[in-house]
Amino acid sequence: MSLRILHFSDVHLPAPPGAFRTPEILHPKRLLALLNFLLRRGSKYADALQKLHGLRDFLVREPVDYILYTGDTLNFGLKREFMDAAPRLAGILALARRGALAVPGNHDLYTGASPVHHRQHFTPRPSGDLPEAATPTGYPLVRWLGEEAVAIAVNSSRPRFAFWDSSGRVPDLELDALARLLDRPEIAVRRHVFVMTHYPFDDHGFFHGLRNSRQLLALLQNRDNLVLLHGHNHQPYARRIPGTSLRLYCAGSLSKAGAESFWLFDLLGDSLHPRRGAWRNARFILQDDPAP
Ligand SMILES: [Fe+2]
Ligand SMILES: [Fe+2]
Repeated sequence: MSLRILHFSDVHLPAPPGAFRTPEILHPKRLLALLNFLLRRGSKYADALQKLHGLRDFLVREPVDYILYTGDTLNFGLKREFMDAAPRLAGILALARRGALAVPGNHDLYTGASPVHHRQHFTPRPSGDLPEAATPTGYPLVRWLGEEAVAIAVNSSRPRFAFWDSSGRVPDLELDALARLLDRPEIAVRRHVFVMTHYPFDDHGFFHGLRNSRQLLALLQNRDNLVLLHGHNHQPYARRIPGTSLRLYCAGSLSKAGAESFWLFDLLGDSLHPRRGAWRNARFILQDDPAP
């Protein structure tokens, strides 16, 4: 039986009217980020809502079984942003015929108060199929993808106080739980095991990357059924991690002007056929990309 899975990331929806009328904006990190956003970054994502609608139209034309989403729905992690964006995102995830799985990005869990807003508005939608696998952090989440594949999500995003620090880290508890999950017979036998998180698995850059990337890769390597999915970098790519059999896909950003993207995977038996979504003439289309 074949399965179709769509992976997208980094929508960065513009803040709705009135979002900044809150004392939360006075957080020094947000003030600097707002300045940066207004001066240069924001214009690239000004049409993010149009791109999200474009994804909805694509999913109506080309239905998929599962949707996997790797975060950065917002920009500043403000309550009003959550209230506006959560139903929009839920509406997209609900278009998958059989289910979805999502993790937050660093722009969702932006400062200390953001995780509370995230829990209120995003979780447990969608929750996992194996709730007992979750640690007290709420992750990993597991979604069975038919009989022969599975998706496992860990959360690498956490609030950072400093504006210049947008690094991520998968909590040790989640690393241990992930290793146990990958060893479970009903997961180890699956032909395709998608492991997903917001941060790039192989970028250990101190201020923008995943600080414990080496630890994470150490527990993933030597398993030949893994497919790693992430966002955070706003350019899409697919590659193998050197010295391992790990296949890595970055979805890029759904909405960055000139670089809009997502991945569509067709699974048939052992084969995984990836195609990249691209924005052409105000709609998403599919392109064939060489497999990594
Ligand atoms: Fe992002
Ligand atoms: Fe990010």
